[in-house]
Parts: sequence; structure tokens; C-alpha cells
Amino acid sequence: MSDKITIQEPKGKLGILTPGMGAVSTTFMAGVLSIRKGLSDPIGSLTQMGTIRLGKRTENRNPLIKDFIPLAPLENVVLGGWDVFEDNAYEAAMHAKVLDKDLLNELKSELEQIKPMKAVFDKNYVKRLEGTHIKTGYANKMELAEALMDDMKKFKEENGCDRLVMVWCGSTEIYIEEGEVHSTLEKLEEGMKNNHPDIAPSMIYAYAAAKMGIPYANGAPNLSCDVDAIVELAKQTGAPIAGKDFKTGQTLMKTILAPGLKARSLGIDGWFSTNILGNRDGEVLDDPDNFKTKEVSKLGVLEQVLEPELHPKLYGNLYHKVRINYYPPRGDDKEGWDNIDIKGWLGYKMQIKVDFLCKDSILAAPLVLDLALFLDLASRAGMKGGIQEWLSFYLKSPQAAKGLKPQHDIFVQLMKLKNTLRYLAGEDLITNLGLDYYD
Ligand SMILES: NC(=O)c1ccc[n+]([C@@H]2O[C@H](COP(=O)([O-])OP(=O)(O)OC[C@H]3O[C@@H](n4cnc5c(N)ncnc54)[C@H](O)[C@@H]3O)[C@@H](O)[C@H]2O)c1
Repeated sequence: MSDKITIQEPKGKLGILTPGMGAVSTTFMAGVLSIRKGLSDPIGSLTQMGTIRLGKRTENRNPLIKDFIPLAPLENVVLGGWDVFEDNAYEAAMHAKVLDKDLLNELKSELEQIKPMKAVFDKNYVKRLEGTHIKTGYANKMELAEALMDDMKKFKEENGCDRLVMVWCGSTEIYIEEGEVHSTLEKLEEGMKNNHPDIAPSMIYAYAAAKMGIPYANGAPNLSCDVDAIVELAKQTGAPIAGKDFKTGQTLMKTILAPGLKARSLGIDGWFSTNILGNRDGEVLDDPDNFKTKEVSKLGVLEQVLEPELHPKLYGNLYHKVRINYYPPRGDDKEGWDNIDIKGWLGYKMQIKVDFLCKDSILAAPLVLDLALFLDLASRAGMKGGIQEWLSFYLKSPQAAKGLKPQHDIFVQLMKLKNTLRYLAGEDLITNLGLDYYD
């Protein structure tokens, strides 16, 4: 049994701020309000609906996670954000067309009060958006970061918040690789003062949060906090961070199925994944530079789960292809097809077809909530600032310590998350060895 860690009680209000108030963010916000009113259930949220086994199986101790570990209660959550459009959360949610109008109208007065703050935006990073509600007149990117910090201080004060958390729900930015300017905090700060073009808006938000010691998660596949400089800053200030890219539809399926096939030593020759979706995210991803960011994020998953270097006969020739097609009639109702060419005993070939008719933002919204609540927990539990690998469970391209391969297998990720909670609470870690049941 580990020593119990002192966790500060989640007293007072927790402000959850999202850069980006589009489909995912407003589905999350409306969801929190609806659940709070008792109109809906928080399905898909581990923090709200999940249980955790404690001790031996014979002890029958399986509390809800939220009753086991001190998380901020939904009643104490205050919502806010930034967007390049002026629409309040009600208007943006109506535009996104994810949730029923009837439900949104029941929440209208509260949603209307959530008005986006002016965004830090650079059209070079999201060419398909014509933003009007943006911060202008600042000399450089450092000043923009300071403006974001001012926004947060003001939000905290006006809403009487005790703590803040930031979760990036903004559009996917174009693909860039980590470069010299992102390699140390000093170089990043210098670059911000000199308006270095490779410092994306999402990095400026991450910088502002980390600088203030505010936890930050990145739900999109662009780098944002996934650069050495921000990790360095977060370690210094104690800000917990987690990136990147919410693990929802197709990749969620992939990290459920692939570990299962591998567990049985079944081979895979090919995995073809294609999607159609018609929301604004789909429109942004229709631009090849933005799609590239998503593609890289989606492709890494199988490689790590299957470890072809250890199993060349099973996965050495795997052909993995991912496509996303913008198709407006479907809106947020994405359809993701997978064709998996597998092989079994003596190399005999078989196929698996998956057709997932999902709702993108319905799958992502609970992840925003869980990431925010767990990051706030990490902060109150005094966990080391920087990467929170135990939150990989929620992410398609989880950040990990340098030189460490990220874990993609969802069952390993869940085990890690729950063992982290047990560790924080001073409970026995669960190994599933279980020999003592037979003594
Ligand atoms: N829905 C899912 O299942 C899922 C899964 C993984 C990742 N994501 C990612 O989550 C993000 C949000 O998805 P969505 O469906 O809500 O998209 P969306 O287009 O509906 O919303 C994104 C919002 O971000 C705003 N925005 C863009 N740049 C900004 C900036 N610099 N500052 C502030 N606001 C900015 C846009 O104006 C827009 O309103 C996307 O990057 C998407 O790729 C979504």
C-alpha cells in the first residue's frame, strides 16, 4: 500500500476554460448544465459514472470514482472560453447542431451568458476560418500571451473562481514539427517576442496557462503543449499538462480492437480506415495541411499497440491507411468505416468490417470534463508539473516523457489511470495476480 497523498479539498469554484467554443466545447458546456439540472446523465464520463475496485475482489469495494477521490463537483464548475466568432454558447451550440433544440432551449439563459473572450488567432494556421472576434493591436506573441493571462485573471475574479483549468477545443491547426524555437523555454520566449512564425496560437494559450500554473489539456492533434519548451515551463510552475487529440470515434475503436487481436496473436496485414463528416472540424480538416496534423496523430496508434518490431510475422507488413472526407450532409454524425485484413492459424486470411455511426462531439464532450477534473485533481494533489501520462486514456497521441514510447492500448491506459487514483488515495495497486485467493 502506498502512503496516502495529501490532496487539497476541491473547495470553491473551478473555472473550465476552452479555447474554441465550437461543437465539442458547447456540447460539453450544455451537457454540464443539463446534468446539473438533472435533465440528462453523464454517460461516457469515467469521472461521473465509472467505478474503481479497491482491495481484493472478495472485499466488494467498488465505489464510484467521484465518491472515492475528491473531484470538483459539477455544481461548482463555471464555464468560459475564447473563440474567433462572437457567438455565445447557445448560438454556437445551435450552429453546431449536435444537441436537440428543445434541450438547448431549456438551457438557453445559462448558455447565453457564456460569451467567448476574444481569441488569439492566426489565419495561417487555420485557413478555412474567417475569424472576426480576435485580439488585435498587440506588438508580439508574448503580449498576446499576457493578454490571455489577463483574461484568465479577470474571469477568475468576476466568477469568484478558486481555480482554473484550460482544455483546448479549438480547430486543428496546420501541421508543423517541433523545431529549434520550441526546444527550450528561453528560445520559445525569445521567439514569442520576435513573432516567430512557428509559434502557433495553441502554443500561446498553452504558454499562458502553464505560466500561471494552470493545468492545460490539448484536445486537438496540433503540437500546442507537446513541445519541450512548454513541458519545461509546466515543470517549473507545477502546471499539469496533457496532450494531445481526444481519443473518440475511429481511434477509440482501433485501440479497443487492436489490443484484443494482438492478445490472441492474430496477425494483421492491413487496416483501412475512412470517415465522412460534415461539421466545421471536417471543413477545417478538408485542407491538406490541417489534415496532415490529424493523419499523423491517427497513424501512430497501431504501431505502438502492435509492436511490429517484436512480432514481425504478425504485423511486420501491416498497411495502415486513414482518410477523412468532408461531407456536409452528415454534420456532426460522423460515419467511420474500418476494413481490417487479419490472418489466423497457418496464415489463413479473414476480414473484420466496422461501421461506426457515431456522433463526434457526443463522444468528445465527456473527455473535456474528465480531463479538466483530473487535471485539477493532479494540481490539488501536488503531482509533479508537466506531462500527466496517466491521462493517456483520453488521447490519441498521448505525450510521454522523452525517450518513452507512449501507451495506446486503452486497457493499459485505464489500468494506469486507476492505479494512479489508488496511489493518490493510499490504496493497494491492483496487479491481478490473485494467487492468494487459492491459498
Ligand atoms: N469531436 C471529436 O470527436 C474530436 C476528436 C478529437 C479531436 N477533436 C478536435 O477538437 C477540436 C474541436 O472540434 P470541434 O468539432 O468542436 O470543432 P469546431 O470547428 O466545431 O470548433 C472549433 C472552434 O475553435 C475555434 N477556434 C479556432 N481557432 C481558434 C483560436 N486560435 N482561438 C480560439 N478559438 C479558435 C473555431 O472558431 C471553432 O468555433 C478540433 O481540433 C478537433 O479536431 C475532436
